[in-house]
Amino acid sequence: MNTQGVDMKRRRTLVAATSVVGAIGAGFIAVPFISSMNPSAKARAAGAPVEADVSKLEPGALLRVKWRGQPIWVVHRTPAMLESLPTLDSRLVDPESLVPQQPSYCQNPTRSIKPTYFVAIGICTHLGCSPTYRPEVAPDDLGAQWKGGWFCPCHGSKFDLAGRVYKGVPAPTNLVIPKHMYLSDTTILVGEDTGAA
Ligand code: FES
Repeated sequence: MNTQGVDMKRRRTLVAATSVVGAIGAGFIAVPFISSMNPSAKARAAGAPVEADVSKLEPGALLRVKWRGQPIWVVHRTPAMLESLPTLDSRLVDPESLVPQQPSYCQNPTRSIKPTYFVAIGICTHLGCSPTYRPEVAPDDLGAQWKGGWFCPCHGSKFDLAGRVYKGVPAPTNLVIPKHMYLSDTTILVGEDTGAA
């Protein structure tokens, strides 16, 4: 008799049984918590602001958090990235962000409260795909003029590192910047502000 085969079969059964119990256990914990919330509390929780901790975000890197079911990006822009922004103005649809796609405190050349950190909703303004972060300079597929930004794989829209849309692509407007504020030097609260930077 192949005892090893029996042991393996028994082990798989035990693992499966444990997984089911685990799933049921999680359900028992989660359901009473959610059902104990009244409808307005649930609505508030769904739209509640979220914190982004940028203390460990390396220069050039992008952090993703979720707010109201949407991807939110926070990029730690390097000095070189910031210097590239004004050089792109003539190639952009709305370089001065005149279309209100941002809170008034982000209607400035870097579209941010603090130039180092760029916060945006990670959804293309064409048909809602999530663009790909492409921070590298002059990659083969995006050309020698590319200074870093986002490329939308759905229909080819391009945005710079301030979320400003390039001319000649399907997306009509810059990326949307959600309201946000700093709780500390390294903690950003997305979804709430005091009305001023
Ligand atoms: S959804 Fe991004 S280019 Fe169409």
